[in-house]
Amino acid sequence: MCGIIGILGNHEVSPQLVDALKRLEYRGYDSAGVATVDATGQLSRRRAVGKLVNLSDLLVHRPLTGHAGIGHTRWATHGAATEVNAHPHQSGPVAVVHNGIIENFRELRAELADRGIMPESQTDTETVALLTAHHLDQGLSPVEAARATLARLQGAFALAFLFQDEPDLLIAARKGSPLAVGHGDKEMYLGSDAVALAPFTDRITYLEDGDHAVLTRAGVQIWDAEGHQVHRATARIDVGATVIDRAGHRHFMAKEIAEQPVVIGDVLNHYVKGDRIVLPDGLDFAGLDRVTLVGCGTAHLAGHVAKYWFEQLAGLPCDIDVASEFRYREPPLSDRSLFIAVSQSGETADTLAALHYARGKVARTVGLVNVGTSAIARDADMALPTLAGIEVSVASSKAFTCQLAVLAVLALKAAHDRGRLDDAALTAHLRDLRAIPALLAQALALADDCRMQADWLAQARDVLYLGRGGLYPVALEGALKLKELSYIHAEGYASGELKHGPIALIDGDVPVVVLAPHDALFDKTISNMQEVMARHGQVLLISDAAGIAAAGDGITASLALPTGGGVFQPILYAVPMQYLAYYTAVAKGTDVDQPRNLAKSVTVE
Ligand code: G6P
Repeated sequence: MCGIIGILGNHEVSPQLVDALKRLEYRGYDSAGVATVDATGQLSRRRAVGKLVNLSDLLVHRPLTGHAGIGHTRWATHGAATEVNAHPHQSGPVAVVHNGIIENFRELRAELADRGIMPESQTDTETVALLTAHHLDQGLSPVEAARATLARLQGAFALAFLFQDEPDLLIAARKGSPLAVGHGDKEMYLGSDAVALAPFTDRITYLEDGDHAVLTRAGVQIWDAEGHQVHRATARIDVGATVIDRAGHRHFMAKEIAEQPVVIGDVLNHYVKGDRIVLPDGLDFAGLDRVTLVGCGTAHLAGHVAKYWFEQLAGLPCDIDVASEFRYREPPLSDRSLFIAVSQSGETADTLAALHYARGKVARTVGLVNVGTSAIARDADMALPTLAGIEVSVASSKAFTCQLAVLAVLALKAAHDRGRLDDAALTAHLRDLRAIPALLAQALALADDCRMQADWLAQARDVLYLGRGGLYPVALEGALKLKELSYIHAEGYASGELKHGPIALIDGDVPVVVLAPHDALFDKTISNMQEVMARHGQVLLISDAAGIAAAGDGITASLALPTGGGVFQPILYAVPMQYLAYYTAVAKGTDVDQPRNLAKSVTVE
């Protein structure tokens, strides 16, 4: 992760650098820093631990002048979140910002140490600055010195170099991590994504893997991994420069949860017209023998829910895996299979690598992404937008349910293409799916009840979540959300698996959240709930009115969701998972939108 920015401007750049970093803070917020070259050629930097606001405050007291600069917001990989480990890293006349991991930094450090060059930080990145300064010392020009350094680096990186006495020069390089070049009016920009550059320009050139670029105010020159000078297309990328606000909500997360009825409605309007599913040409499931779904975190759990739909509705075998395992497992893939990478950001390093692994081995790759300009959207054979709109809160909410809605449409299309659903059955399922936005709007009314339950959950040390069938992955998501937001230990389990281990954890102090709609699996799940209550476990039952009436006595609390939605009920059950985690975090006073140690876009593996 980490976000990087570079600007060759015609005004003071430090306010612009900070503005761009605000838009990149979703990539990490352990520390932030900027460096500039001023009119005299002086290279200076400012760095501050913690959120970006600390850097802004520092710049008020100790301003930086200069029309050329670089900036960084950090998610720590090597070395704690301290000022000395914050970027930019500077060695004499060069400053560097980096996103990624230099895997051979220990070896490079040892070489530098042999020459008496010692680092001051624990980071891998400082090695890049030290090595470049060493090359400059040997008489190489800045461009030659950066090239000589890049030739030594292994791992993943997006890098920007800024040099003393070079107010019209930025050098950029990417391998693995994304990097975009922005074209202004006699100004040039560099950023981890187009969103960071949106206030400045919409003319964007994406660097490709292995590229390095030399930027001056006159433009950009790009070389590929083989050292050939290349042309990379410039496109207008409209990501909107408007300031994103909380629309009266206390946190972005609350706003994003509340937006779900509308954005799910948008998804369904986009992909379903009347009784017809509208997907890009070429997505025909009839000849396929398998679907493979890959993602990380919440996106992985959306795929996990979809496995139930693809298998039960379409009779299509479906594999689901976390991308970090999939990519190194060397899974055999059928050339009659469909590979779907699920990702809100479209930049998650492991998911992108899994997509690259699948390319050429399967019939088609699909990127299910929320950010349409992302690497996964560009590299997949077909990109399907999840249309959630910008999601700011680090923990995913509306992006999850939008992923589920698109996956539901895909599963129905698969079932119809494969003759498992005739037209009438498809129409009935589409009716269930189209009921979801209105049901979600009713589910939002549970907010107050969830807030009351959260006071109880906030006292707990551990919380268990149980679900069966498509509600099992939703239980996993509930536990994940609670961990992410409130730092309370939580586990999701398949209800039937409880007695094979986790039941040992149950005592009167462990709240157990049971997800059990009044459906064909209800009685089974309720039996598991009874096993909990027999051991003094405190149950919070989430069901519908019929389920709560049928569940019997002894439940500590219940939350009633509306009925409806058919097999797509998991989308509905996501709402109390989100609200319970949200209000528990509020009760505990944790940082809801930017929980500790997390980042929204994870561009390191
Ligand atoms: C991070 C975020 C999660 C997200 C996951 C996958 O861990 O904090 O909210 O689910 O990355 O991100 P992606 O952008 O690929 O959906």
